[in-house]
Amino acid sequence: MRTPIIAGNWKMNNTIKDALELVNGIKSQELNKDVEAVVCVPFTAIRDVKEALDGTNIKLGAQNMHWEENGAYTGEVSPLMLKELEVEYCIIGHSERRQYFNETDDTVNKKIKSALAHGIKPIVCVGETLEEREAQKAEEVVKNQVVKGFKDISEEDIENIVIAYEPIWAIGTGKTASSDDANAMCKFIRETIGELYGDIKENIRIQYGGSVKPNNIKELMEKSDIDGALVGGASLKSDDFVKLVNY
Ligand code: PGA
Repeated sequence: MRTPIIAGNWKMNNTIKDALELVNGIKSQELNKDVEAVVCVPFTAIRDVKEALDGTNIKLGAQNMHWEENGAYTGEVSPLMLKELEVEYCIIGHSERRQYFNETDDTVNKKIKSALAHGIKPIVCVGETLEEREAQKAEEVVKNQVVKGFKDISEEDIENIVIAYEPIWAIGTGKTASSDDANAMCKFIRETIGELYGDIKENIRIQYGGSVKPNNIKELMEKSDIDGALVGGASLKSDDFVKLVNY
């Protein structure tokens, strides 16, 4: 049985003040306890949000990390720094990082390994562009991202990873993949994990992401292979985030 996981990706939004307002808005409402709720917040707000989340079941996540523990990497944040702040999850390889910050399957692989080595659970993003989908290459692209991203990751570690299938053309565009298409790709990802790791594939949680809103979450979550959602825009309003968790 895979516990559903709804994660908010706040991206580069919310000062500490805004972050606390949002978290307090979420906290003040009843959340389904059978669903894991995660907020992935900007680095600057992690400490305050952590404090605000104390005594709740809401989990804390970051949106990126470097793979080294320390060193001459100006502007980067290390897994040790995140661990110190008791961050439980970290988004890795989001398409915006791949697109704007030159992340590759190789750096994604290094980050996943480093996160796991430090007890941080990676939420690993994969997904195709519109051109790739139209050229019937979506499966090939996503498979490649999974195989390369997961290179040399052990069977024990794999269960601590969450995968987010996020077709790039659906992110922030209001265009959601149909629930059938989203499910087909999540199933395909699970089969790919099966080829690499065998039966463990049934325990791996796979989220869909890309314009998930309170009005389409239920249909997505009813699908066989979609175990959750990674949500950008709709996670910035407390009422919407609560509706997503309580789908
Ligand atoms: P969106 O973003 O929900 O705003 O489309 C999803 C994501 O980028 O994780």
